[in-house]
Amino acid sequence: MQFADRLNNVETSAIRELFKLLGKPGIISFAGGFPDPALFDVEGIQASSQAVLHDKPGPVLQYGATEGWQPLREGLSTHMAKKGVTVQPDGLIVTTGSQQALDLIGKTMISPGDKVIVEAPTFLATIQCFRLYGAHIIGAPIDADGVDVDQLEKLIEEHKPKLIYLIPTFGNPSGATLSLARRQRILEIAVRTQTLVVEDDPYGELYFDQPPPPSLLALSDEVPGSRDWLAYCGSFSKILSPGLRVGWLIAPPALLANATMCKQFSDAHTSNLTQAIAAHYLTLNRLDGALAVVRKTYAARAAIMAESLRRELGDAVEFNQPQGGMFFWSRLTGANGQARHAPDFAKRAIAQGVAFVPGAPFFAHDPDLASFRLSFATVGLEKIEEGIARLGKSL
Ligand SMILES: Cc1ncc(COP(=O)(O)O)c(C=O)c1O
Repeated sequence: MQFADRLNNVETSAIRELFKLLGKPGIISFAGGFPDPALFDVEGIQASSQAVLHDKPGPVLQYGATEGWQPLREGLSTHMAKKGVTVQPDGLIVTTGSQQALDLIGKTMISPGDKVIVEAPTFLATIQCFRLYGAHIIGAPIDADGVDVDQLEKLIEEHKPKLIYLIPTFGNPSGATLSLARRQRILEIAVRTQTLVVEDDPYGELYFDQPPPPSLLALSDEVPGSRDWLAYCGSFSKILSPGLRVGWLIAPPALLANATMCKQFSDAHTSNLTQAIAAHYLTLNRLDGALAVVRKTYAARAAIMAESLRRELGDAVEFNQPQGGMFFWSRLTGANGQARHAPDFAKRAIAQGVAFVPGAPFFAHDPDLASFRLSFATVGLEKIEEGIARLGKSL
């Protein structure tokens, strides 16, 4: 069968291949990117499911508007207001996960050959999704404070990209958080160079101690004109449930209108049932309580992971301690002749009964073969200690 040429630009995720190995009994997995299902607020979601099916069975089981379930759009407007963002309900659309928001941005903005700048490393599915539309993807270097803005500015001037894609808060896979000063500069650069910045923010609520700096979208009030160059992708996946498949896109009106048109051709609309559940859930005022538990649990797991890594792997690895989110981004240092090659390290680790994801696939080009990602989100404290001890034996 002759498939479309666009498939030549993409391949099945290397991470998916790795997941096939995870069925082995006794494996401790730091490989996933899933939230902990034990922390889902099942009681609240159950109450909301029953309420919407009881109160509005017809509409929630019917076709709906492409833009989204109106009570949810209103709920999201209030939710974003708490995060310092002013957006009217008609200034956002509901998407089938934020993954769909990214896909709609790709569909709406990217023509074959267009250049797109992303962080190096970045979310693998975004690299694949933008490549499907023919994007030429350029990675900008990052450090613990997020993307290096001097380098980013140079890359923008050199390549004149169609858009820049950033995960400024508790990045996947980097765990990094863009500093306030860098956020402000990025907004200024967006206005000066008239470049669209896509802010992907599924992890911002998952902070451990201190809330992170305001989102680029919240800060855009302080930088005149910047709101015209910002698209924001939000998601309930990491704070409520990924199975609901509810995300949202906030963007300038023309982009939002085109994304809505493209969504009509994709899935017509996101499930009314799950949108209505999410909307009702927001009115229960349970989210803050549920999030407090998630934050506390993930903070404890991250702390144990950091401690165990230092104890068990010592100078063989370096990492930045994340202040929120779900990931440690680590590098093999090769110190004293120790391991340098994360894919080989991953194979030895699987043999020892512990899994993680080597970092190479998260780079659009020039992969760092010493890097790897560890997720602590779904593993209990004792298992984290045991898993990291097994990693120590795999060096
Ligand atoms: C950075 C980033 N963006 C988007 C997504 C997609 O999330 P959703 O479940 O909302 O589609 C993920 C999921 O892991 C992610 O890590």
